[in-house]
Amino acid sequence: MSQTDSLNQIKQDALDLKASLNLLKEEFLGLSLEFNKSLNEARSLLCNQDCQPHTENKKDTNQKTGNENVVKSIGIFRSCFLTKNGTPRQPGICPYARGSLTITCFNNPEHSVEGLSMFSHVWLLFLFHENGDYIPKSKVSPPRLGGGKVGVFASRSPHRPNNVGMSVVKLDGISGGTIFLSGVDLIDGTPILDVKPYIPGYDTPLTPSTAAPWITNPPIKPLAIRFTDHALSILTQLKYASDENLVLSKRSLRKRNCLRFFRSPEELKQSISDIVCADPRSVFRKKQGDTAFSFPVDSVDVKVEVRGDVVTVLEICQSEYVRGLLKRVGS
Ligand SMILES: C[S@@+](CC[C@H](N)C(=O)[O-])C[C@H]1O[C@@H](n2cnc3c(N)ncnc32)[C@H](O)[C@@H]1O
Repeated sequence: MSQTDSLNQIKQDALDLKASLNLLKEEFLGLSLEFNKSLNEARSLLCNQDCQPHTENKKDTNQKTGNENVVKSIGIFRSCFLTKNGTPRQPGICPYARGSLTITCFNNPEHSVEGLSMFSHVWLLFLFHENGDYIPKSKVSPPRLGGGKVGVFASRSPHRPNNVGMSVVKLDGISGGTIFLSGVDLIDGTPILDVKPYIPGYDTPLTPSTAAPWITNPPIKPLAIRFTDHALSILTQLKYASDENLVLSKRSLRKRNCLRFFRSPEELKQSISDIVCADPRSVFRKKQGDTAFSFPVDSVDVKVEVRGDVVTVLEICQSEYVRGLLKRVGS
């Protein structure tokens, strides 16, 4: 290698390092925000649990709750879903939907997951941290009911008094204190409250189980799907995550340019189908008659259009989120 080449290489490495530092800084800021948000949510959870007005008899309340009842997140979930829009409504709908959880509540996180790899599935208990200021209502309109209402406790609505979610997801692997999961329905940045092994013998009721007819035989039928030739050709041109890329680093700009979670065009195509066939539009948006919509998944935006019972995938392009990120670091 000539001296000029080496110099250019060093310059390139320095630029890469600078970009990585900027990303780290961003990641750190994001994590601090998430941390403060979950701390606030945990505090309000405590107030709710106590069933007393926040201001009343504060001393008593503190004595009763004690520190042992404070709910803290055990780690933040990294997911291929960046926003609520386009995230499957239940786990298992999209088997290739991947995510990971790094345990941060212990100094020796790898000890806390010892023995967990003997289980195929785990329960994730988490906070719906992106509910905003929405005030939970006693009756909700599940999308599968097409406008009908049921009591919040007869639903899996994310808008509930304590904002607590639960999902059974597939355990794909463990590395150190990081757990890799698939079939997820959580968005990136979700604070995880607990992980427990799914145990068929304990978690399947011994007596026959039934579900409401609107779940087993919903009035809303799945949409048929078609991809335009353009969308199909983009699917084949994208750069996919490799099997070894299990540690989903946000730091490398180059990796940011390729998919971080999906490993082949088939996986991405299947996942897009799983997501859009279930019609991710809210009851409100459907009532409004919105036929075109888009959603981000992994590092791409997917644009689709619904006509009657058919949804067409029109476009797949680098997500605006990733584009913004690349712009900010001057790439
Ligand atoms: C219907 S809930 C079901 C979640 C869980 N399986 C349960 O039953 O508790 C799934 C939806 O919650 C939303 N969601 C996922 N993660 C979230 C978060 N961290 N904050 C707010 N909403 C979230 C997404 O729109 C997703 O489609």
